[in-house]
Amino acid sequence: MKLIIFITILIATFTFSEAKVFSKCEFVKTLYNAGVPRNELRDWACIAQYESNYNTAAINNYNTDGSKDFGIFQINSRYWCKIGSVGNDCNLNCNSLLNDNISDDIKCARLIKSRQGFSAWVAWNNRCQGKTLPTVSECGF
Ligand SMILES: *[C@@H]1O[C@H](CO)[C@@H](O)[C@H](O)[C@H]1NC(C)=O
Repeated sequence: MKLIIFITILIATFTFSEAKVFSKCEFVKTLYNAGVPRNELRDWACIAQYESNYNTAAINNYNTDGSKDFGIFQINSRYWCKIGSVGNDCNLNCNSLLNDNISDDIKCARLIKSRQGFSAWVAWNNRCQGKTLPTVSECGF
């Protein structure tokens, strides 16, 4: 019995320990290295700050249409990722947006932006557009 409990805890630890809270500089450097243009970094930082506080494990369960938002960019399950299997426009399982590897998140976020602009994010409209954006000069940009 003790062994079973131990194994269960071990599995749970490995399953859920992949989430990560990025620092702002770590986040913008990861984006830049993934090919995001320099002049977009402050807007993306603003989105990550107000959507998830840079936490890859963030999930929003409160959309009126029953969809959910996942990860550091709060990507929505209605059109972009799919709950329970790989699918929708980013061809992603929403759960894969919750771990510490945000390369798939970035790719999907850039697809969303290419179709709808930054205004696809409610937080960008309300808290970033026309406002003072987070600075990235201290991150070397
Ligand atoms: C992150 O995920 C991508 C696929 O989305 C993969 O190609 C890459 O190797 C992963 N990076 C690490 C450090 O695991």
